[in-house]
Amino acid sequence: MGLPMKVGVIGCGTISGIYFHNMTKLSGLDVVACADLVDERSRAVQDRYPEVQAMTADELLADPSIDIVVNLTQPGNHFDVMKAGIAAGKHVYGEKPLCSSPEEAAELLSLAATAGLRVGGAPDTFLGAGIQTCRELIDEGVIGDPIAATAFMTNHGHESWHPDPAFYYKPGAGPMLDMGPYYLTALANLLGPAERVTGSARITFPERTITSEPLNGAKIEVEVPTHVAGTVDFTNGAVATVITTFDVWAANLPSIEIYGSEGSLSVPDPNTFGGPVRVWTQESKDWEEVPITKPFSENSRGLGVADMADAIAGNRPASASGELGAHVLEIMHAFGLSSDSGRRINVKTTCERPAALSLRE
Ligand SMILES: NC(=O)c1ccc[n+]([C@@H]2O[C@H](COP(=O)([O-])OP(=O)(O)OC[C@H]3O[C@@H](n4cnc5c(N)ncnc54)[C@H](O)[C@@H]3O)[C@@H](O)[C@H]2O)c1
Repeated sequence: MGLPMKVGVIGCGTISGIYFHNMTKLSGLDVVACADLVDERSRAVQDRYPEVQAMTADELLADPSIDIVVNLTQPGNHFDVMKAGIAAGKHVYGEKPLCSSPEEAAELLSLAATAGLRVGGAPDTFLGAGIQTCRELIDEGVIGDPIAATAFMTNHGHESWHPDPAFYYKPGAGPMLDMGPYYLTALANLLGPAERVTGSARITFPERTITSEPLNGAKIEVEVPTHVAGTVDFTNGAVATVITTFDVWAANLPSIEIYGSEGSLSVPDPNTFGGPVRVWTQESKDWEEVPITKPFSENSRGLGVADMADAIAGNRPASASGELGAHVLEIMHAFGLSSDSGRRINVKTTCERPAALSLRE
């Protein structure tokens, strides 16, 4: 299968704008179709990008010219849309989390492997200039052997800005499944796969009130923990301390830091593609900013799709792969399992540490 590959997008909601903006420019991709349950949303995409034809999801899946289905639906729909894409003979790439449970992820990977198709998924922020710079610094031994890490995502939820935020508080989301993918994927890229997880989780506010338009005043019943904390033991021996929360109004915590035997690394917000990247070494005895020279420092969502297309054409592993997404999903679920059972959870899946990004801007 050669480049460019034809892409059809299912789900034309909030996040789709940046995907269409980027994927219509990224080399190796030819975005030809889009679908949404709400017709006006797919038609609005076609109005803006006349080369992208609005159709129903069934029509998109039945179109034999489409190679890759990009799934930008809400988390509760990820599994069904990905499964339908594979059944239609398409490679599939989805927004995070890959799907709702490790069992679903295993099923998707197995169906795709049997059909000779690829599964990939967001986040692809770890392919951006900032975290790729961190990756190079670790690989060059600038901080020595990684021994520990911290990853903190603190905010007060999404009901103040998202037009339809209820899904953030339903199964398949919550702060861990919604934001954890950025942090744990970045850690897996920097440290490799994980082996064990401990966690504690709670629901702090059982009901949330939407203050954004158009649903201002509507109530959301919270069904998943909104404060999740714990530790992850990585196979390389590094121990990460992790918090993801929708319950905290303000905090002074870093996004991600990696602590090595020779120094420390300050990793940029893993929900972004750029810097700043800072290192502390025993020579400098101070935090120093590292110049960002790698490509893709702007919001490049969709880069993972371009990398997957390039990987299919080049018969190499993709970076934002389904195996990585499934491993991260299992780690995230393990926090809840540990909290519920009071046990440390052994992670069964693993993944290859993705190779450094080979695509150029
Ligand atoms: N909003 C953000 O800032 C943001 C950022 C990063 C990632 N994401 C992720 O992107 C995904 C989508 O989030 P969003 O904020 O764009 O949600 P959204 O609700 O704004 O959009 C989702 C769209 O998918 C459509 N849809 C759902 N099921 C469908 C189906 N079976 N066929 C066709 N269309 C279908 C819906 O009608 C809706 O228009 C989520 O997984 C979310 O975690 C969102």
